[in-house]
Amino acid sequence: MKVNPCRGFPILCGTVFLVAVLLAAVLAADRPAAAPAPASAANIAAGRHLVFSREAGNCIACHMVKGAVMAGDIAQPLAPPFPDRQRLFAQIWDARQNYANTIMPPFGANHLLTRKQIHQIMDFLYSLK
Ligand code: HEC
Repeated sequence: MKVNPCRGFPILCGTVFLVAVLLAAVLAADRPAAAPAPASAANIAAGRHLVFSREAGNCIACHMVKGAVMAGDIAQPLAPPFPDRQRLFAQIWDARQNYANTIMPPFGANHLLTRKQIHQIMDFLYSLK
């Protein structure tokens, strides 16, 4: 006969199980803002390239950025002040997290840009004066 380990104290057992499930969910959760790469000159340059590139980020399709030619005027210019790193990451990863009805493409969620590329873009944006 199998022994039911929860017999006698189902509430304690249920609670332990629930905590374990929640902990697993938290640990497994996508934490896109974790471990940013340091803002090196190379990362800033790579980020600038992504922002300006028609093939990659193409942020200038909608945003004016200092130095851009033929930039779009659909959204606000990309200029300081920028939101904090977590909110800025969310904006680029999936702007729907910040603005439910946005037309800004969910670059991270749709695999248009990698995590690393988004951090490089942020390094570039924060370098803007
Ligand atoms: C198709 C148009 C479009 C493209 C392409 C686009 N954006 Fe946006 N972006 C928007 C709009 C519209 C907003 C205004 C807020 C919103 O609706 O998300 C915005 C807002 C922002 C904001 C301000 C967020 C805030 O809360 O202050 C930042 C920063 C930003 N975009 C960065 C970028 C970057 C970086 C890229 C390229 C990787 C990019 N955007 C590409 C349309 C676009």
